[in-house]
Amino acid sequence: MSAYDDIHRRSLADPVGFWAEAAAEIDWFKPWDKVLDDSRAPFFRWFAGGELNTCYNALDRHVAGGRADQVALIYDSPVTGTVQTFTFREMLDLVSRFAGALGRLGVSKGDRVVIYMPMVPQAVVAMLACARLGAIHSVVFGGFAPHELATRVNDATPKVVVSASCGIEGARVLPYKPLLDAALDLAIHKPAACVILQRPQVAATLVPGRDHDWDELAAAASPVDCVPVAATDPLYILYTSGTTGQPKGIVRDNGGHAVATNWTMQHFYTIEPGETMWAASDVGWQVGHSYITYGPMIHGSAGTLYEGKPVGTPDAGAFWRVISQHRIPVLFTAPTAFRAIKREDPDGELIRQYDLSHFRALFLAGERCDPDTLQWAETHLKVPVIDHWWQTETGWAIAGIPLGIERLPVKYGSTSKPMPGWNVQVLGADGHPAASGDEGALVMKLPMPPGAFMTLWNADQRCRDAYYEENPGFYTTGDSGFIDDEGYIFVMGRLDDVINVAGHRLSTGAMEEVLASHQSVAECAVIGVSDQMKGQLPVGFVVLKSGVSRQHEEIVKELIALVRERIGPVAAFKTALIVSRLPKTRSGKILRGTMHKIADSVEYNVPATIDDPAILDEIEAALKTAGYAAKA
Ligand code: COA
Ligand code: AMP
Repeated sequence: MSAYDDIHRRSLADPVGFWAEAAAEIDWFKPWDKVLDDSRAPFFRWFAGGELNTCYNALDRHVAGGRADQVALIYDSPVTGTVQTFTFREMLDLVSRFAGALGRLGVSKGDRVVIYMPMVPQAVVAMLACARLGAIHSVVFGGFAPHELATRVNDATPKVVVSASCGIEGARVLPYKPLLDAALDLAIHKPAACVILQRPQVAATLVPGRDHDWDELAAAASPVDCVPVAATDPLYILYTSGTTGQPKGIVRDNGGHAVATNWTMQHFYTIEPGETMWAASDVGWQVGHSYITYGPMIHGSAGTLYEGKPVGTPDAGAFWRVISQHRIPVLFTAPTAFRAIKREDPDGELIRQYDLSHFRALFLAGERCDPDTLQWAETHLKVPVIDHWWQTETGWAIAGIPLGIERLPVKYGSTSKPMPGWNVQVLGADGHPAASGDEGALVMKLPMPPGAFMTLWNADQRCRDAYYEENPGFYTTGDSGFIDDEGYIFVMGRLDDVINVAGHRLSTGAMEEVLASHQSVAECAVIGVSDQMKGQLPVGFVVLKSGVSRQHEEIVKELIALVRERIGPVAAFKTALIVSRLPKTRSGKILRGTMHKIADSVEYNVPATIDDPAILDEIEAALKTAGYAAKA
């Protein structure tokens, strides 16, 4: 039996023993009473009765244990020309002081704090400061518009919002404060206070009585100690797209999360304490939570915060410069970043300009990785390139090649084998297990391992309905795919309305809600079409109300602006096509799947249930005009 097989088998046969062993690597204030509490299935609880503090595990224990002067965080910001390193001691000083500042604003255990920040070290400091107090942070990605921020503020009801005067996107400086002010005007819930980091590029106007300057507040605060929390207390809420405009508040615990992220650092990513990991993502996404902030520091290694892009800051050699300058052995990013680099530097010439002799592995996730991109990276980097499958809900990789355990062979197009703790299965349309090679719903047999989400914030019932109802005893991922006869998993697409744009998870349902709110729109549909660079892009089809006689171009401009205004630039919604009607079944269901196939030039059969087949020609013509459906 291979090392991987042995560990995976053991993790499923004896999850309690397996994860208790992994939990011994974490410092506990009080040991757990029960490794796995299944009394409220499908809501499982890991390390029930145990007490710890995640910030203590990320900072204090390393300072006390001899790593005080070792680097904990590297901040590399080509957009501001800054490179800064923070030791564990320096991080502890910043975090304990900022925790004191939050405490003075009334934040205590169980309170929520929304963090709406660009990629600056203070974002990480704020997250850890919340963890130190036992408060629950909710980081909102900077590319979301005020309306989306307001939705999250209303759901999380934070006592405090932490933000900054601006973000920097390539060469553009984006003031954040007006977005925050607009969001708080829209929100029903009003936080008691805001803390604003004034960046030198833009000075934000502070609202007297509500807003506080980060530096002044931190300077006046005294450092505070870690507050012990239950292993099962929430560490954070991270909102992600679901099947409606209402985002899902994924709740992560303290105990299971610390155990799982720590375990993966070595066993999956091969990172030793003292080494550096770079997750080229954003702190607003799951990858940023697990592998910029928490995983590396809990493990006694350094995280990397990169405020830049794979291309254009200044060129497609940016990643290699960072890897070489900071001697980073492992990079984790989304395939889209590599497609962007490949497009600008197809022969990998910039790669050869840097010393990457210490670089040992590349991990890709967040969207389907096309074999061309993976092979291009393998050829030019000459290190293992691992595609691994993730969700915000799972918090860490469901499947991949755990290089720290065994270098299994790569199969192109597959996200390889299930990680320890994950019992991945495929169910057919009848709810029964599919034969190997047959596509169906990808599900996980419960319980999921530590680190998987606990529930949706304030919405247990929605959580049951969304994930556990359809296939009792399983967690339904929403992804479709198959498992081959060697146990390799192939993730093929989504079964719901989630699309993946540049590694960012978005809901077409949410975009439809925005388009439908336009005064001229009678009905609409948004689908994700394949895009060479971003993986998928949203395309909207819109039917106007009868009697609307305005110029179509004007309406299209308004629709695009509306999605940007309500959801944000991250939606990358740039194409709205006005058509006379939508293809539907006789019972009125919009045939999004057929439209999708036409857009992607995939063979399709005209559905037998279609109301009016002639409309498909109009859809195809509209798509061709927009540059899609070339071969249809
Ligand atoms: N704050 C404000 N705006 C943001 C933002 C942020 N944090 N992040 C992105 N945006 C904006 C972009 O500026 C862009 O705006 P525009 O329409 O005015 O040009 C828009 O949102 C779309 O962003 P994106 O889809 O990321 O496109 P891009 O052209 O800026 O960059 C990539 C494309 C591939 C370089 C970039 O998406 C990338 O590096 N992705 C890989 C890493 C990653 O993010 N992974 C996520 C999960 S691992
Ligand atoms: P997010 O919650 O933003 O991490 O997005 C999760 C979704 O991204 C998954 O449900 C998949 O649809 C997709 N995804 C993530 N990683 C992969 C991968 N390696 N291959 C295919 N799809 C992926």
